[in-house]
Amino acid sequence: MFGSLFKTSYASETFNFFSSINTPSSPSFNVELLSSPSAATDFDKTGEVVWPVSVLLSQFLITYEGLRQRLQDGEECNAETPLRMLELGSGAGLPSATLLEFYDHFRDRLVLRATDGHEAFISTENGEPGILSVNVGKYGPNVKALPLLWGKKKDALDALSSLSGSASPSYDVIFAADVVQWGAVVEPLAMTVHALLHPGQEGARRVKKYPPVFYLGIVERDDGALKRKFFSLLQSYGFSEARKINYEEYLGRDLGAGDEAFLFPPKGSEFGGRVCMIYEIFLINLEPKPVLLQRDQILSTGYEATLTLPCVNANFS
Ligand SMILES: C[S@@+](CC[C@H](N)C(=O)[O-])C[C@H]1O[C@@H](n2cnc3c(N)ncnc32)[C@H](O)[C@@H]1O
Repeated sequence: MFGSLFKTSYASETFNFFSSINTPSSPSFNVELLSSPSAATDFDKTGEVVWPVSVLLSQFLITYEGLRQRLQDGEECNAETPLRMLELGSGAGLPSATLLEFYDHFRDRLVLRATDGHEAFISTENGEPGILSVNVGKYGPNVKALPLLWGKKKDALDALSSLSGSASPSYDVIFAADVVQWGAVVEPLAMTVHALLHPGQEGARRVKKYPPVFYLGIVERDDGALKRKFFSLLQSYGFSEARKINYEEYLGRDLGAGDEAFLFPPKGSEFGGRVCMIYEIFLINLEPKPVLLQRDQILSTGYEATLTLPCVNANFS
């Protein structure tokens, strides 16, 4: 099934999720995904590993009522005006694959782009599909894996123009796990989120009940300074204050009570007990226009080196 990628260092792993927070015995389902079983990767290949916070984000995407309602609302989201979703820094793409697996019966209602700055995850040097393309490629024509380097104007424009059929395309929902890790790209990342969620000319905006939203999975490996900087940049671009979503809202009362909730799913915390959490951030003020759509916003000279492995010592089990 996974072709020659299998022969390299990847293995198929099965992730288990539950489909409802209402009862502890709610039905569960599995997602099979190709990834690197190693806890250490080359400096630019951190995305080959499925990081714990992306397991938590995956569970969140299917049990958080705010998103559920939106996807199940036929007026908000239908075959003619599907919900347009995009994952940033996808790596192996577990959150995208989980969402697509769970909402398989809604294939025509949602359009999804899974993206990463590391082009080999999309397409290898030999022209074969990369790990991300393989992992999301089976979910039909509304789903594509695309290269998207944060702060690169062309990649942002390509991601927008891949939404055909709209004069002023933009995304409704963006999500990302474990991407606020490198000081040099915090600003390009924030600008990318802004550019992809901003609907362009106000008049061209599709009428939607809900404002554009960004769901961010974070694990803090510093004192929280990067996260605060990232949120404050987003606020200056017209986003709401970031709301840390209570675990109860997507893990349920049994699993979500108190801070120990980060122990679920099994890989939802990192070695050393670093807590994983999900934030919700709405774009509420359209006045500031996205500068990335005018020019590249790659701000650091050492930019290439910023794909560095974020947590060499992470030894989660
Ligand atoms: C720590 S990994 C997280 C992967 C996945 N989201 C997860 O949680 O399992 C960070 C991901 O962000 C991507 N990335 C890092 N810097 C980037 C940049 N400047 N532009 C686009 N993607 C980038 C990496 O290639 C990698 O896939």
